[in-house]
This record gives sequence, C-alpha cells and structure tokens, in this order.
Amino acid sequence: MQKYKPVKEGKVREIYDVGDSLILVATDRISAFDVILKNDVTDKGAILTQMSAFWFDYTKDVIPNHLLSTDVADMPEFFQNDRFAGRSSLCKKLTMLPVECIVRGYITGSGWAAYQKDGTVCGISLPEGLKESARLPQPIYTPSTKAEIGDHDENISYEKTIEILEDLYPGKGEYYAKALRDKTLELYSKCADYALSRGIIIADTKFEFGLDEEGQLVLGDEMLTPDSSRFWPLEGYEEGKSQPSYDKQFVRDWLKANPDSDYHLPQDVIDRTAEKYKEAYEKLTGEEFARE
Ligand SMILES: Nc1ncnc2c1ncn2[C@@H]1O[C@H](COP(=O)(O)OP(=O)(O)O)[C@@H](O)[C@H]1O
Ligand SMILES: [Mg+2]
Repeated sequence: MQKYKPVKEGKVREIYDVGDSLILVATDRISAFDVILKNDVTDKGAILTQMSAFWFDYTKDVIPNHLLSTDVADMPEFFQNDRFAGRSSLCKKLTMLPVECIVRGYITGSGWAAYQKDGTVCGISLPEGLKESARLPQPIYTPSTKAEIGDHDENISYEKTIEILEDLYPGKGEYYAKALRDKTLELYSKCADYALSRGIIIADTKFEFGLDEEGQLVLGDEMLTPDSSRFWPLEGYEEGKSQPSYDKQFVRDWLKANPDSDYHLPQDVIDRTAEKYKEAYEKLTGEEFARE
C-alpha cells in the first residue's frame, strides 16, 4: 500500500497530495485566541467537513467547487480507515489565487475597531451611527492577502486585487478580480440568508478561489464553517454589544476565567463545545449528524 505524508500541516487541518487531487483532512483540534488547545473536540473535524460539503452542494449553481468526495472509499487505500473516515475531503487540485475573499455582513472585531476611529472598514466608508454588531446596509467585500511573514493577513483594496491578478494573468486581472468580488458577495448573500432562516447569523466569512486547468474560476478550501467564519446565535442577538460565538463561547469564557490553565480545558467545557458544533450542523442541514 502506498503511504502518504501531509504536504502541509496547518493548525487545524492536514493537506495530502495524491496526484491530480488533494485530500484536506480536518482534525478535531480547536484554536482559541490564536492558540491550539491541548484538548481535542470529538467529531469537530467530521462535522466541519460535512458542513463544508453541505454548502458546496448548496451553491454548486452559483459557482463550481473543488469537492470531489468525502467518502474515503474514493480515496487511496491509505485513507480508508477510522483515522480519516468522515473528516477527509478529496478535492480537485487548483492553482489558488493569492486573494483571501472576505465578506462582512455585520460590523464586529477589527472592522468595529476601525469604524469607531474613522467611520471606515478596510477603506470602505460606512454610514454614521452604526452600533457594534449591527447588520450592514449591504454586505461589504474586504479582500486581504496572506502576509509574507507572521500570520496576520494584510487588508488590500479592490484595486490592489486587480493589480495582483493582472501581474499573474496579464490582460485578465480585472476580469478575475471582479469575478472574485461578485461571486463572494453572491455566495455570502445566498448562504447567510439561508442560515438566518435556520437561526444562525453568519456575521462574516472568507472564501478562497482557484483556477482549474481551463482557467475557470473554482471555489476551493473549506466553506462557511465556524473556523472560516463568525457564527452567532440569532436567539439573543442585539446591536450595541459584542455577540457570543456560536461554537467557541464556552471555551473563550473558561480561558478568560482561568488564565493559568495552559490551554488544558475541563472535559465538560469540551463536551458542551462539541454539542455546539453538532447543533450548528443540525440546524443548518436539518439532518442529524452521524459519524460515518
Ligand atoms: N483545491 C485546492 N487546490 C490547491 N490548494 C488548495 C485547494 N483548496 C485549498 N487549498 C490551499 O490549501 C491550504 C490549506 O491550508 P490551511 O491549513 O488552511 O493553512 P493556511 O491557510 O495557513 O495556508 C491553503 O493554502 C489553501 O489555499
Ligand atoms: Mg487556510
């Protein structure tokens, strides 16, 4: 049997190269305040894998995506076991575009901080008088690019995305930049409206796109999981204050109350967090989560 080593080990995911395709493996690791906790959250990787798969299917008429299968039977033998089952996505290998496509429907986090200073978010002027966590009059596209060193991405203007893409694809920069922006806004609107109808606010999110061998734009990476987005419970939502995280609030609250924990959490905090991931999945898909 051919053995594989990850070509990349991220904080939470592992990436394997299997020729024409990639296998993205979502582990049960969880980060909070940019640190990986010592505990794993049971089934988190599988739940987020199935959640991405749900959204890819839900938006396949908006844009083609990279997902080929989440069934390990479709993957090399090495992956056909419990370590990978349920948490692995076989994906078409793409040439990724170096733009992180961020869209914000609500004002929070770094956007809220910037708005309080000068009324803008990532260079976009917003109406006066918005309160913290307010829904924006319309969603805004605030692209960024991965920083060379360190892990803080750099916000860039829409015009800068044209420049970056024009350098890579002469004559097509504006075409790709516009497509990224339009598809990002369309995907967000469709999915955030749907999630809202199921009791979950998607405050903001990030998409990544790539090109297939024909130069067609394809949606890649993970999609609309709580790891790539801010999910808030609709119940109790109120402008004028920060909102609890749908999935990580128990973890954050406990870490704040226990600054000397060294990121090792009690099992009941972890169990309640695991329940939140399951609940988000079940609300969004209308299906019970079942371990494969
Ligand atoms: N279909 C794809 N083809 C090629 N690369 C992809 C595809 N989907 C996602 N990627 C890339 O795989 C990597 C996933 O790594 P990740 O764990 O998110 O770490 P990071 O975001 O820090 O690079 C990212 O670089 C992402 O752009
Ligand atoms: Mg990533």
